[in-house]
Amino acid sequence: MDEETRLIRTGASWPLPAKTVNPPIQRGSTVLMPSAASLYDDDQISYGITGLASPGALQAALAVLEGATNVTLYPSGLAAITGALLAVLKAGDEILVVDSAYRPTRRFCDQVLARFGVATTYYDPALSPDDLMALTNARTRLILLEAPGSLTFEMQDVPAIAAAAKARGILTLIDNTWAAGLYFKPLAHGVTISIQALTKYVGGHSDCFMGSVATLDAAIGKQLDDAMWDIGWSVSPDDAYTMLRGLRTMATRLPRHHENGLTIARWLQERPEVARVLHPALPDDPGYALWERDFTGACGLFGVVLKPAREKAVHAFLDALQLFGLGFSWGGYESLAIHCDPQLNSRTFPVDLEGPLLRLHIGLETPADLIIDLERGFAALNSQA
Ligand SMILES: Cc1ncc(COP(=O)(O)O)c(C=O)c1O
Repeated sequence: MDEETRLIRTGASWPLPAKTVNPPIQRGSTVLMPSAASLYDDDQISYGITGLASPGALQAALAVLEGATNVTLYPSGLAAITGALLAVLKAGDEILVVDSAYRPTRRFCDQVLARFGVATTYYDPALSPDDLMALTNARTRLILLEAPGSLTFEMQDVPAIAAAAKARGILTLIDNTWAAGLYFKPLAHGVTISIQALTKYVGGHSDCFMGSVATLDAAIGKQLDDAMWDIGWSVSPDDAYTMLRGLRTMATRLPRHHENGLTIARWLQERPEVARVLHPALPDDPGYALWERDFTGACGLFGVVLKPAREKAVHAFLDALQLFGLGFSWGGYESLAIHCDPQLNSRTFPVDLEGPLLRLHIGLETPADLIIDLERGFAALNSQA
């Protein structure tokens, strides 16, 4: 062979020389098939969109975490939510979506599902399972839950809703990102589809996007697998490797987020500037009984309702923070803060809060240092009072 050909082909299919702790990052769009007869054999992996080493290993590990038989991967948490909805819904269906769902979930329902003839009704997270079922009709195909809810952290009776929906042939889908698949097990509580933004605690280092959809229902699992091909979702092997690395330490990191979060939440409850802390693992939270019954822990994300304060004072609080970053995501090792009021006006049911709402993500830093930072914030807030 000519040198050019030899340079192009030599070493291209080098066999794995040694066994390492982690799966290889096997990059590939093209998959080389063993024979002509295998080219159209549906049982063979024929394209890099499925079946490569690191995404496959991640799917297997997430199946253990979720107690699932089928796990599909998406390029972001939001893509997992939208991908699952597209996989199981059809024109003419109606869905019920909790009013405290992650805001982009709501945008997808209003702007995309509506165009394809799927109607969304938002429901108050405080509704009892019976009152929620009273909103269903023959066209209701799915109920979308999130507990605790985004920004306002309301709990829901997920097992009761899942059981009542199942009895009516209605699917349930939960965004379980807050519990990270570890502190609440939706599938074991009867939910059909469990979704996570792996971007948060599974990744754990604020450096990678991905989402997962898990189910125990074989028919739904097939619809989700088919949609991977029909819609063309795929994740990069490098990102799958990063997620897998995060997953290995998640069960070690999360208890620290739980402890640090509660330490800061209890400290905030004593502050004169604070009206209420929205954290379902605090015994005086309205969601505490459900959290204690169904969850085995809490992550580091919760809300803080301030006593009435001007926007300028809230901005002064946030701008004075030096350890807390101002950022929208969460689930990494670092502490973050945002103010939430501009997001609450998209809700259908008015949120009744005493004053401005902040959301804090408590990271793995030493709580005493975070408290000094928050004291700096309160000093700035009070200087604007
Ligand atoms: C509750 C919840 N679900 C889903 C997502 C979406 O995740 P991603 O940013 O990976 O799309 C987020 C992101 O903030 C979230 O807070």
